[in-house]
Amino acid sequence: TPCRDRRDGRGLVHMRPEELRSHQWYGTDGLRSFSHRARTRQLGYLPEEHLGKPVIAVLNTWSDINPCHVHLRDRAQAVKRGVWQAGGFPLEFPVSTLSETFQKPTPMLYRNLLAMETEELLRSYPVDGAVLMGGCDKSTPALLMGAASADLPAVFVPAGPMLPGHWRGEVLGSGTDMWKYWDDKRAGLIGDCEMAELESGLARSPGHCMTMGTASTLTAAAEALGVTMPGASSIPAVDSGHDRMAAASGMRIVELVRQGRKLSGILTREAYEDAVTTVVGLGGSTNAVIHLIAMAGRSGVTLTLDDFDRIARTVPVLANLRPGGRHLMEDFHFAGGLPGFLSRITDLLHLDRPTVAHTTLREQLHGALVHDDDVIRPRDRALADEGGVAVLRGNLCPDGAVIKHIAAEPRLLKHTGPAVVFDDYRTMQRTINDPALGITADHVLVLRNSGPKGGPGMPEYGMLPIPDHLLKQGVRDMVRISDARMSGTSYGACVLHIAPESYVGGPLALVRTGDLITLDVEARTLHLDVPEEELRRRGAEWTPPPARYGRGYGALYNEHITQADTGCDFAFLARAGEVPDPYAG
Ligand code: FES
Ligand code: MG
Repeated sequence: TPCRDRRDGRGLVHMRPEELRSHQWYGTDGLRSFSHRARTRQLGYLPEEHLGKPVIAVLNTWSDINPCHVHLRDRAQAVKRGVWQAGGFPLEFPVSTLSETFQKPTPMLYRNLLAMETEELLRSYPVDGAVLMGGCDKSTPALLMGAASADLPAVFVPAGPMLPGHWRGEVLGSGTDMWKYWDDKRAGLIGDCEMAELESGLARSPGHCMTMGTASTLTAAAEALGVTMPGASSIPAVDSGHDRMAAASGMRIVELVRQGRKLSGILTREAYEDAVTTVVGLGGSTNAVIHLIAMAGRSGVTLTLDDFDRIARTVPVLANLRPGGRHLMEDFHFAGGLPGFLSRITDLLHLDRPTVAHTTLREQLHGALVHDDDVIRPRDRALADEGGVAVLRGNLCPDGAVIKHIAAEPRLLKHTGPAVVFDDYRTMQRTINDPALGITADHVLVLRNSGPKGGPGMPEYGMLPIPDHLLKQGVRDMVRISDARMSGTSYGACVLHIAPESYVGGPLALVRTGDLITLDVEARTLHLDVPEEELRRRGAEWTPPPARYGRGYGALYNEHITQADTGCDFAFLARAGEVPDPYAG
């Protein structure tokens, strides 16, 4: 091969075709390579269309059952267009879809399955780089966890938020307003006719939830990590700009492959810290705590609950977005999107780290502007002086718990009340409106057996419903505690992710109705007012619940899932260790 200058203007080394990973499949003299070339002819491609070019896997989570990703079937064409234009060879891989609205008991049960699928597809096929397409809640962490473990060059294409909802002159946020109007119906303020109209008004286009729920939080985190094109995460799913971003991502991945820039060079400790800063400054979803810890783990970065609490105390909440604030993602996009938001907190970021699009984050944010100070607040008009997530400790949660305190009624942030304990979600649903329980607004609602193993999959049960009779009295928030998660579009004084969970014998398993519980967010504590000796006695009487799954994925999950404070990854996926390349040796 003639010797070429392999450095571009930025001093980056360019790969020769023989150095591509896919060369091992396509370019050797053996029978195998002959067969791979023959089978690519069978796919309908000429040799000159693909030989020597970077092979780009386009991992697509499109499905008919996933309204958040239903546009991605078409959008993949824009990604492929970009790949072709840049001289790459795109191949689309359908991967499993995690549809937050439809999948039971919760798509969280399957996040690690998609992560495994992603990693193993990238490893086992002739792939030089990947474009990852997703956005509905768990899709983003799943794709990035798998890609981080496979450690190829990769670009994430966020699915984009759906358009704002509308109903009788009101602007509706998916998720958030569903909870609100459901409570209104239960309180007798609206009827079936209104609910039927709301059905058509709540979610009116393809795209993920357009509040700062889990989807928007995680796609923003991906952009902050530096794995998307700049400004990508807020572009509405149906905006033409989304096609252009998809094409640009396709062009960019080819360049990244040529430069040999793997994900591990981007997903550094600094990048994860900036993602935490972003999440708390956006007033983002509590789910991001679990996902970012798991994602960081795949990058060999130990991110802890304490990192979240430490960073949250230094970051003001500037994004005025529902459920904590007023606006929706389209407003955020036109206000400047994530680049605009980040431009207001540059002093809190690591600006010298690389992103997929630029040599440094500083360069990426150069010229970023905010166009609407009500949507993205200036620092002196922050929505809250510190970030949206607080980490609690205490005898009820030795390994931690979280609360999104900015989405709670302030009077409840320091509160003592008697517990009303529900052993599982079904019992809670059946009995919570029973007047015999005598629940008052001061009670603390406790739900257990809803954690990673107990749920299973930590369903989003954490925003326990306010009992009907209290709703009718106008009560809209109470202290609620559980080992579950909460939807990113939910709100209220809900203590979540209690670790260890009750199902494995965490102290939450020992609470009894009537015990006093004290929440003190300022002090970051959650305390069960029962003497230690009595807790020991109750612990000795406790027997573990029987295993739920006798076989199958559920049994695998139950055996390997880690607790919330360490990200709910599978231990065998999270740990360090060698995995041979299929062509090595
Ligand atoms: Fe998919 Fe909300 S249901 S993001
Ligand atoms: Mg959600």
